[in-house]
Amino acid sequence: MKLKMLVFFGSSSTEHEISCRSAANILQNIDTSKYDVTKIGIDKNDEFYIYSGDIEKIKQNKWLKDEKNKYRITNIIDFLRNYDVAFPVLHGKYGEGGKIQKIFELANIKYIGCSSLESSVAMNKLLCKKLVSSINIDVVDYVDISKEKYENSDKKELIENIQNKLDLPLFVKPNKEGSSYGVSKVDNISKLYEAMKKAFTYDDTVLVEKYISDKKEIECGVIQKDKKIIVTTPGEIYSENEVYDYYSKYSSEKSYTKVPAIIKEETKEKIKKYSKDIFKILNLTSLARVDFFVTKEKIYFNEVNTMPGFTDISMYPKMLINDGFTYTEIIDTLVDNALNK
Ligand SMILES: Nc1ncnc2c1ncn2[C@@H]1O[C@H](COP(=O)(O)OP(=O)(O)O)[C@@H](O)[C@H]1O
Ligand SMILES: [Mg+2]
Repeated sequence: MKLKMLVFFGSSSTEHEISCRSAANILQNIDTSKYDVTKIGIDKNDEFYIYSGDIEKIKQNKWLKDEKNKYRITNIIDFLRNYDVAFPVLHGKYGEGGKIQKIFELANIKYIGCSSLESSVAMNKLLCKKLVSSINIDVVDYVDISKEKYENSDKKELIENIQNKLDLPLFVKPNKEGSSYGVSKVDNISKLYEAMKKAFTYDDTVLVEKYISDKKEIECGVIQKDKKIIVTTPGEIYSENEVYDYYSKYSSEKSYTKVPAIIKEETKEKIKKYSKDIFKILNLTSLARVDFFVTKEKIYFNEVNTMPGFTDISMYPKMLINDGFTYTEIIDTLVDNALNK
């Protein structure tokens, strides 16, 4: 009997389009002799639909307008109870932030990836920094500011306070976002307040970090297989813009990734060890991509993604494939983890 699998994509997350591109790749690589796959699109109002149109329309973000192939699901919890396993190929707050995992938990369906609690911890950059520094891995110096504090403090005092703790240049980001939404490099202190304002449109906590220049951006894949944690050979990002922003990530023809990363063997091994330790301290399951900045002096943990990109250009599958996995094996392993959680 084939396993009845649901693949989710879209949602109200800012990363809706990226999720569709990731899901299309997964759908193209699923072993359909093992799984009976139903495609579930989530629109930007978080309404669920069975989508029976072409995978290509998902990839090109045309499924939302493909009315004749969309069937609205009115009771998602009841609907889920008819299936064996769910694969939430969702990035950003909705999928990675733990919301959909809550629904799966309520419906008692097995699903790929971390639980709702661990997903929301992993999405929270501030909490991750605190947990990761507790195991003596460096994180970039930062100041965290709540929206309440931002709105109720004297502007001059707020800025001075940050200046006393961190030297320019600075980097401002929303605490819980992805795909570089709401981030800014700040070279001039007069631009800091504005940068924070932008970041606050995405989240109610903002991080102001020391800007790390002359760095390599290195990522490491983690996958569980038969309960063992496997870490990949790290990969490296070459971004067109100095900041690996949305354009450089998804549209630029000049950005690219290299697997394996061109770094010292010793640094590679450290990053692999750190990735495993971070996976454990954050209590993650099944899969994650752990991102670092590497300078001449230090290896900094930057962030973790519990549903990393699976687009054509994404690093996570690329790193696993470099270490001998096939795309289909990656999916099989993740399903196996979900069934044996
Ligand atoms: N402290 C920093 N110093 C320098 N560059 C940074 C810093 N933090 C983030 N960046 C740049 O911004 C990008 C996006 O930031 P990141 O924290 O990874 O957020 P997201 O979750 O949106 O990917 C990074 O890939 C990197 O290029
Ligand atoms: Mg990132």
